[in-house]
Amino acid sequence: MNKVDFNLNGKIALVTGASRGIGEAIALTLADYGAHCILASRKAESLQRVADEIAARGGRADAIACHMGDLKQIESLVGEIRQRYGKLHILINNAATNPYFGEMLGADEGVWNKTFEVNLKGPFFLTQQAARLMIESGGGAIVNTSSINGLRPAPFQGIYSITKAALISMTKAFAKELAPHKIRVNALLPGLVDTHMSKAIIDNQRIYESVMQMIPMRRHAQPEEMAGAVLYLVSDAAPYTTGAILVVDGGALA
Ligand SMILES: NC(=O)c1ccc[n+]([C@@H]2O[C@H](COP(=O)([O-])OP(=O)(O)OC[C@H]3O[C@@H](n4cnc5c(N)ncnc54)[C@H](OP(=O)(O)O)[C@@H]3O)[C@@H](O)[C@H]2O)c1
Repeated sequence: MNKVDFNLNGKIALVTGASRGIGEAIALTLADYGAHCILASRKAESLQRVADEIAARGGRADAIACHMGDLKQIESLVGEIRQRYGKLHILINNAATNPYFGEMLGADEGVWNKTFEVNLKGPFFLTQQAARLMIESGGGAIVNTSSINGLRPAPFQGIYSITKAALISMTKAFAKELAPHKIRVNALLPGLVDTHMSKAIIDNQRIYESVMQMIPMRRHAQPEEMAGAVLYLVSDAAPYTTGAILVVDGGALA
């Protein structure tokens, strides 16, 4: 039997939402294991900070600004990758937004559209375009950052939860369609992780305590605790894993 292989040397990896939080931790880890990372999000300056950190650790990364709700920007992101590197092996659809915290009865169309555009429509069309380049590159691996909210909607996060449930379905649909092209597609389902997005929960003592009651490990996670799961899913350590959902939640859904 060959040694289990987590090495990503020679791989080109695109990570969206890489400017902070879970995406930053994933990008640092993929670069630590040898991937050349392309970091994408809206803010070029924040991405450059992460690219500089990767370079300081001895890795390789480039920053390309891209709004995930804008299909033209997504098209030019993949176009630029094609032009600069000519190949793509790994895509992490990680960027997301959660602009509305409240009852669905009070949500307007603008909130619905923004959440669906960034969390679902963008990842769908990025996957479509990235997969075409991966097919030319001989195959690849895609990980979609969903959420445990995609399996069990959280209070006051209804629309966000619906997008995350749809992302799980999208993961499975693409896994079936892309398997013949040697592209594996899986989903990461984090529980509560200490990032900008979860600040409203972590900083509110009353909400935080009630959430802790539902987590057997009685703590939230740090972003780097998500990175090993993604490394596994994109590496040759997971050659038979596709269409899977990997829950990393301190036991919350157990
Ligand atoms: N934190 C949690 O507890 C938790 C739990 C379950 C799932 N998740 C999921 O984990 C993923 C990462 O979230 P996080 O917690 O790390 O949040 P975060 O710290 O707020 O990071 C979000 C990232 O997405 C980027 N982004 C936001 N809107 C964007 C847009 N329109 N176009 C392109 N990039 C955009 C942000 O960068 P810019 O501002 O530069 O665009 C940032 O890099 C998300 O899919 C989230 O749903 C998080």
